[in-house]
Amino acid sequence: MNIGIIGAGNMGHGLGKLWAQSGHQLMFSYSRDITKPKKIAQSIGSNARVGTPSEAVAFADVVLLSVPYGAVGDALKAAGSLKDKIVFSIVNALLPDMSGMAVGTSTSAAEEIAKLAPDADVVEALPVFAEVLNSDSRRFNDRQATVFYTGDNERSKQVVAGLLREIDVEPIDAGALKNSRYVEPAMMLLIQLAYTQKMGQVGFKLLNR
Ligand SMILES: NC(=O)c1ccc[n+]([C@@H]2O[C@H](COP(=O)([O-])OP(=O)(O)OC[C@H]3O[C@@H](n4cnc5c(N)ncnc54)[C@H](OP(=O)(O)O)[C@@H]3O)[C@@H](O)[C@H]2O)c1
Repeated sequence: MNIGIIGAGNMGHGLGKLWAQSGHQLMFSYSRDITKPKKIAQSIGSNARVGTPSEAVAFADVVLLSVPYGAVGDALKAAGSLKDKIVFSIVNALLPDMSGMAVGTSTSAAEEIAKLAPDADVVEALPVFAEVLNSDSRRFNDRQATVFYTGDNERSKQVVAGLLREIDVEPIDAGALKNSRYVEPAMMLLIQLAYTQKMGQVGFKLLNR
């Protein structure tokens, strides 16, 4: 699969590296310093290249949107038309200093992104923390972390679930895209547990019976 990555930071780089190991082709884009994605692509090797955001979209079967919430409008403008593209958003609606949520419970980053890209199939999943993603294993004592995904198109959701399985987490279908308004604050709880409560690397595990 060709994956166009918009935002090659901790998460975009980490996910791209793992997907390249699974055999996917990547194009990294969108940086204030083009040398950064170039270095990342070089470190990954022949499966990775660099382009502009609109080149990454043209290249992509799936577009990974991995920028801070405050940069979403600018990134989507640079991306151009996303008609019929699967946009896999990992954007949480955090304030820039992570002190709270920019939006929440009556809307979500995912829903706002879908409004800005109405022709795209937006699927959201907030994967494990970058520290976990970029470590040797994504597992917690041999257990896979649960990662919820939301979206309104079944086929696109299955594609994203497959990409999540490839990074060794447990994808759980959390329903329609509007449920992101509950998933995103839940991820903020994990951030509080990890950094304020100093619990270290934490993740979700869903139990049901
Ligand atoms: N970190 C996590 O553990 C985690 C977990 C789940 C979800 N998320 C979500 O994933 C998204 C990306 O997080 P991240 O930790 O990968 O962030 P990051 O390391 O700061 O990466 C953001 C990327 O966006 C690029 N960018 C381009 N223009 C920008 C601008 N005007 N302002 C800010 N960034 C700009 C940055 O490029 P340059 O710096 O090269 O310009 C960088 O490559 C966020 O929405 C976050 O909520 C993060």
